[in-house]
Amino acid sequence: MEILEKLQWRYATKKFNSDKKLSDKQLNVLIQAFNLTATSYGLQTMKLVVVANQELKDSLLSSAYFQKQVVQASHVLVLCIQNDISETDVDDYFDAVQTIRNTPENVLIPFRNQLKSTIGNMQHATKREWAIRQTYIALGNLMTVCAIENIDSCPMEGFMPEKVDEVLNLKAHNLTSVLLLPVGFRADDDMFSSFKKVRKPIDEVVISL
Ligand SMILES: Cc1cc2nc3c(=O)[nH]c(=O)nc-3n(C[C@H](O)[C@H](O)[C@H](O)COP(=O)(O)O)c2cc1C
Repeated sequence: MEILEKLQWRYATKKFNSDKKLSDKQLNVLIQAFNLTATSYGLQTMKLVVVANQELKDSLLSSAYFQKQVVQASHVLVLCIQNDISETDVDDYFDAVQTIRNTPENVLIPFRNQLKSTIGNMQHATKREWAIRQTYIALGNLMTVCAIENIDSCPMEGFMPEKVDEVLNLKAHNLTSVLLLPVGFRADDDMFSSFKKVRKPIDEVVISL
């Protein structure tokens, strides 16, 4: 039951206490959790940009339709996709498998080649959508880990990615922002923290066959 209590406790935080900051240890848990997120084929074609700098957070405000969470949160996590997925990503992955697991190349080569061919046959837009889907898995993972660690968060798609990319100079890193996750601690007077959860009855969302 404990995990359900944590999930009841979490909510999309509207007002953060800007005086309360995540410790390095707490931030590190979130960073490690992001990196441990499962990704399709293990390719990890996404990156996490961690914004702690207050001036940068302030400059995100208008790009986020003036949602104050980006300014008041301790850190703003920006989940990004690479602007392209190529054979290099496949090679990087299989090279890492070889190094970390000592798997012989003759075992890996059929999988390496098959994945290169799969990616080579994908349209750019398809690869982009595929990468975007991975960021949503990371978002869910991060939100759950936040809840377990008593860290507040607010998942956000309500922002203009091209503006955020500009403010954070993401193009220089070959990245595009997909999701924001301001993290920190709720303000005592965030009225949303006491609102009851609005969810459908279980029998409307689960079909048991
Ligand atoms: C992908 C996604 C995008 C969201 N975007 C925003 C947003 O831009 N601003 C905001 O205040 N809440 C945003 N939310 C929060 C939802 O409105 C909220 O999670 C939902 O109403 C359920 O409430 P709860 O999370 O507090 O239980 C978003 C949630 C998700 C999952």
